[in-house]
Amino acid sequence: MNFIKHATITLLILFVIACLAYWAIALSGRMDVSADGAHWPVTDRVLETVRENSVRRHARDLTPLLPDITDTDRLHEAVVGFEDMCAACHTPPGGSPTALAQGLNPPAPDLADSARKRSPDELFWVTKHGIRMTGMPAWGPTHSDDELLPVVALMTRFPDFADDDYANLLAAAREAGVEHHHHHHEHEHDHDHDHGQHHDHDNDHEHHHEGHSHDHTHFRHDGEAPKSTATILRHGHE
Ligand code: HEC
Repeated sequence: MNFIKHATITLLILFVIACLAYWAIALSGRMDVSADGAHWPVTDRVLETVRENSVRRHARDLTPLLPDITDTDRLHEAVVGFEDMCAACHTPPGGSPTALAQGLNPPAPDLADSARKRSPDELFWVTKHGIRMTGMPAWGPTHSDDELLPVVALMTRFPDFADDDYANLLAAAREAGVEHHHHHHEHEHDHDHDHGQHHDHDNDHEHHHEGHSHDHTHFRHDGEAPKSTATILRHGHE
């Protein structure tokens, strides 16, 4: 009985000392938060374990319905969405890393690798919710599921991409006049919170209008599809 009591008190004291020491180090400014520094290996391992298990658990009940991106319009939309939202950090297949990508810590992974390792549910969950304390933003607050799912579907195809597929697809999409846009539902709320009378509606919606003019653009279904599109489409029927 006495032993248990002493052991408990000792453990409590050790715990308090550990907390104080941790707090003292935190306050001292000695912890290195620089992005060009490295974590201790043990920190990396802990973070990775937390991330892997968190993503797996949270994505567990999701069953995203991936759209069929063998449809040329969708495929173009997806590739332009990826280019505008993701490519600066996640170097696309066959691309070379931007300065931004090279400065990220943790780095943004090659999503072809991620697509091999992760289920579509997990890819979608991360895309929508982001990963806290890393450069990975949540896209859910500004984009609907319907806007994100084509990008997720595209990611699942990255493992099949040849080096120039992505660049060719993007060029074809740009040529067809496809632009990334999203429905600015959040601006509806912005107006509610807008105290000033001088909200600049033009600026606010410029991008929106621009996007809209291309919203219903249709593409040549008659002519020859660009080579890379044909490649992807063929993969889609495998
Ligand atoms: C500002 C940089 C940045 C942008 C933009 C960005 N990401 Fe990320 N992303 C990251 C970083 C950094 C990580 C790694 C986080 C970590 O290590 O926990 C990541 C992780 C991920 C992962 C998890 C990969 C894995 O193997 O665990 C997915 C999936 C992902 N991003 C998808 C996307 C998609 C899709 C977009 C565009 C809609 C996007 N990201 C845009 C920085 C970014």
